[in-house]
Amino acid sequence: MKKLILLVAAIALGTFALSAQSITKEDKDRAKALVEKMTLEEKIDYIGGFDGFYIRGIERLGIPQIRMADGPQGVRNNTKSTLFACGVASAATWNEEAMKEMGVGLGQDARARGVHILLGPGVNIYRSPLCGRNFEYMGEDPYLAARAAVNYIKGVQSQGVMATIKHFALNNQEYDRHHVSSDVDERTINEIYFPTFRAAVTEAKVGSVMTSYNLINGVHAAENPWLIRTNLKEAWGFQGFVMSDWTSTYTTLGCIRGGLDLEMPQAFQMNAEAIKPLIEAGIVEESEIDEKVQNILQALIAFGFLDRPQLDKNISEDNEYSRKIAYKLSCESAVLLKNTGALPLKSGKKNTIVLMGPNADVIPCGGGSGRVDPIHSTSLAEGMKSLGKNYVTKLYKDGKPDANTLKKAAAVIVSVGFDKTCEKENSDRTFTLPAGQDELIEYACQHSDKVIVVIYAGGAIDMSRWQDKVSAILMGWYPGQEGGQAIANILAGKVNPSGKLPMTFEKTLEDNPTYRFYYPVEARTKRGMSCKTAFYGEGLFVGYRGYERNGVEPAYPFGHGLSYTSFEYMASNTIKSGDGYDVVFTVMNTGKYDGAEVSEIYVGEKNPCVVRPAKELKGFAKTFIPKGKAAKVTVHLPKSAFEYYDVKSHSWTLNPGYFTIYIGSSSADIRLTEEVLM
Ligand code: BGC
Repeated sequence: MKKLILLVAAIALGTFALSAQSITKEDKDRAKALVEKMTLEEKIDYIGGFDGFYIRGIERLGIPQIRMADGPQGVRNNTKSTLFACGVASAATWNEEAMKEMGVGLGQDARARGVHILLGPGVNIYRSPLCGRNFEYMGEDPYLAARAAVNYIKGVQSQGVMATIKHFALNNQEYDRHHVSSDVDERTINEIYFPTFRAAVTEAKVGSVMTSYNLINGVHAAENPWLIRTNLKEAWGFQGFVMSDWTSTYTTLGCIRGGLDLEMPQAFQMNAEAIKPLIEAGIVEESEIDEKVQNILQALIAFGFLDRPQLDKNISEDNEYSRKIAYKLSCESAVLLKNTGALPLKSGKKNTIVLMGPNADVIPCGGGSGRVDPIHSTSLAEGMKSLGKNYVTKLYKDGKPDANTLKKAAAVIVSVGFDKTCEKENSDRTFTLPAGQDELIEYACQHSDKVIVVIYAGGAIDMSRWQDKVSAILMGWYPGQEGGQAIANILAGKVNPSGKLPMTFEKTLEDNPTYRFYYPVEARTKRGMSCKTAFYGEGLFVGYRGYERNGVEPAYPFGHGLSYTSFEYMASNTIKSGDGYDVVFTVMNTGKYDGAEVSEIYVGEKNPCVVRPAKELKGFAKTFIPKGKAAKVTVHLPKSAFEYYDVKSHSWTLNPGYFTIYIGSSSADIRLTEEVLM
């Protein structure tokens, strides 16, 4: 009985690893023995998916059919399941525990449906607010994105489900995604665009990697040996398998030679008709096909897929744990951008609240493969209703209240943003809100000085028309099925907001450091390439690194997020620890509410021998502190936090000397600094 209790507790906590994530020699030997028993036809068939989301089974060898499902924020494909806050929202929590719990919940939801491989997380770096998939990703900073991805993957894989990190690599825009070449220099790709993938491989032992649609320096990702072989497999030691994105393959030889293992959703290029003549002509060796089958099988074996059923009937499809975590993520991810006192809302029957706008009574979600149909959901209107009689809320779903109603209201909440029709894969979105929404906010501001804007979007939007006129702005991202409840509780002050921005919000699109390069007309003509190119001309200076270098003040800086309480930082110190330093400081909650503070640690080199950003995020901690209390916070900075990528040696290198450590409440709100010698 005691054992059973321990087992149940371990599963609930997600600490019970059902399968090994590292691929062992035994796994490899077992896979090799299976490959040796397969006919050439079976092997060729094996490296192409079928029926949309499956790897074929081979009954005679005891290899089961393997089921995959999207994707980052919930288990999709022919099922309803928990809709978690989207990827970028998970990064906005700055809470590693919550990021991991999201993975555990996703893993459980996958097991409850017999799904072996989850097609997430998505981690492409946020360059511009226009990218249609920003909501699925994890923001503009590689350190924060890596922490979010590593925790997510560890959580998913702790449940015996394989995670898939995607889209490798440089899929930072959706516009014309099959044809655009992301052209980037070696240092930039290593410092900005690789770290999240690399951490997923080396630290989280991710089981599979999905390539992207775009080309990288002129070669399609799925057929790119420099990307897949030289970096992923050789330099980082990736032992799992590489799958293509759905229909992102272009030539048979390119797929074979590039290092791709599995073509999805089916063998458009790597099929028997194309491969057999190449083998007969001596152009392709059978061993090249064997290598791919081996890579797939050894990973499936390591995850236990050949030895147990994936469907776990002990987990309900309507999983209580996931629901709880979905709510936690929604609460912790919302970012209070501005508050001149309208929030928290005043309670009391006389304080009528007006709720209006296109997203007031819907469950907003980005579209494409990131869309999930939830079993349960709560809209903001429903969340407001649940607050009880003390919060009298008048809902205007369509149409708008008259001027008098607005004037009399104690607060006017306008819920705006994008949705599955306009923020999604395969197209980019606008910086401005969809038609009519700015006008709606402006109308509310004409008749009320207590306008609160709640935004649902994957990143920054143009607020220039009303930012100064409204009293409060709450960034809700796509908060998932529990989002309406969480946001209502935040507005009412039952939950103290604690999310911070995982990207910079610009004042105008022109301010964004990628502006000149994002749609690459100039670069295309200048370079005279046959394919269109997105030239990453801003180099390392993406996001806050760029705003700081260009001296451009953003609307809201990276790492910004307000609370209903206030925090004071004091007594910092650095202590040599391991190959780096521990940064130690005290944070005191000096306000009237209990709350959690995200402390951000940036590092800047004093006399760099190459151009470096003024400072870069290298650590953070989220600490819950009751009002009036103080907490001692320690953040470890390993040697790697001080290094840069040296293109001469093709490796991360330390330039010995002095570094400044910035301890801040946001990238633009540095409270304490320290100097260390490395
Ligand atoms: C997306 C992938 C997704 C796949 C399967 C593609 O269009 O780019 O992220 O996993 O579809 O749905």
